[in-house]
Amino acid sequence: MPNQALAEQGTVMNPLIPVVGKIIKIVEETPDVKTFHVTTENGKPFTPLPGQLAMVSMLPIGEAMFSITSQGENHLEFAIKKVGMLTEALHEAAVGQQIGIRGPYGNGFPIEICKGKDLLFIGGGIGLAPVRSLINYCIANRQDFGKLHVIYGARSPQDLCFKDDLFENWPKVMDMQVDVTVDKGDENWSGNVGFVPAFLEQINPSPEGKVAITCGPPIMIKFVLQSLAKMGYTPEQIITTLEMRMKCGIGKCGRCNIGSCYVCLDGPVFTLAQLNQMPNEY
Ligand SMILES: Cc1cc2nc3c(=O)[nH]c(=O)nc-3n(C[C@H](O)[C@H](O)[C@H](O)COP(=O)(O)OP(=O)(O)OC[C@H]3O[C@@H](n4cnc5c(N)ncnc54)[C@H](O)[C@@H]3O)c2cc1C
Ligand code: FES
Repeated sequence: MPNQALAEQGTVMNPLIPVVGKIIKIVEETPDVKTFHVTTENGKPFTPLPGQLAMVSMLPIGEAMFSITSQGENHLEFAIKKVGMLTEALHEAAVGQQIGIRGPYGNGFPIEICKGKDLLFIGGGIGLAPVRSLINYCIANRQDFGKLHVIYGARSPQDLCFKDDLFENWPKVMDMQVDVTVDKGDENWSGNVGFVPAFLEQINPSPEGKVAITCGPPIMIKFVLQSLAKMGYTPEQIITTLEMRMKCGIGKCGRCNIGSCYVCLDGPVFTLAQLNQMPNEY
């Protein structure tokens, strides 16, 4: 829970008031995704748990919720896809641009469920952004987890996010495997071509001692869940993160609820076993 996380981290912040931050680095991931490294004059505004979120704002345009895809000693990272007014303005911004940040929100990934297990991460497109925060956490705390296996896909080679991690950093980590696919290759692509669920079934990682964490476009998640079930994964072994519309982030506005559950407070991370208990409104 966000307030609990804030208390544990000793961060004193009104969750409705943004702090003033600044963009210190911009990485062009794909033609429509950029990763923004942001900080404040006091360093990073808070220390999020893997899978938590923050509201990012730019005056006078507005604000929206984004996953915190990674963090450093003094900064937070957001991978942002250009889809509308705010994200277009952020994509036009340069290093030094002032932004607002409030958070952290959401429950984050259940580290206790993952500890000691082999972890299978399945991502599609910008959906790797929240999962990457957990992958980087596992790498930083390598001794607490078993084997790490990333299966990731995007529409084309140029739409692959976090290429440095996929092809340089992660394959060098001990007991870590990375498999990448694209829907449609090009003349330079020698990797797999095909959709993520089919690629997953082709690799067929055993469910034994494993937890699967998946995030991507809803259609990908739907078929990945079917593939995992076919391969013998139980709902308790599957974790996903939802992207419902959000406004307040603190359980007040009622924009994100599914039945009696508020995704901003109780989620966005749920096991499939938990989702199966909820009305199918997501
Ligand atoms: C929990 C959560 C985590 C998120 N993490 C990320 C992230 O890491 N990176 C990232 O790029 N985006 C993320 N988003 C989505 C991001 O908040 C929206 O894309 C944002 O609202 C875009 O703002 P905008 O003003 O540019 O576009 P808008 O003008 O708000 O919208 C542009 C288009 O996107 C659609 N849209 C906006 N938000 C959503 C949504 N939540 N679900 C479905 N369609 C939507 C609109 O209907 C419209 O078609 C996340 C959203 C949530 C709720
Ligand atoms: S975003 Fe307002 S209640 Fe969840």
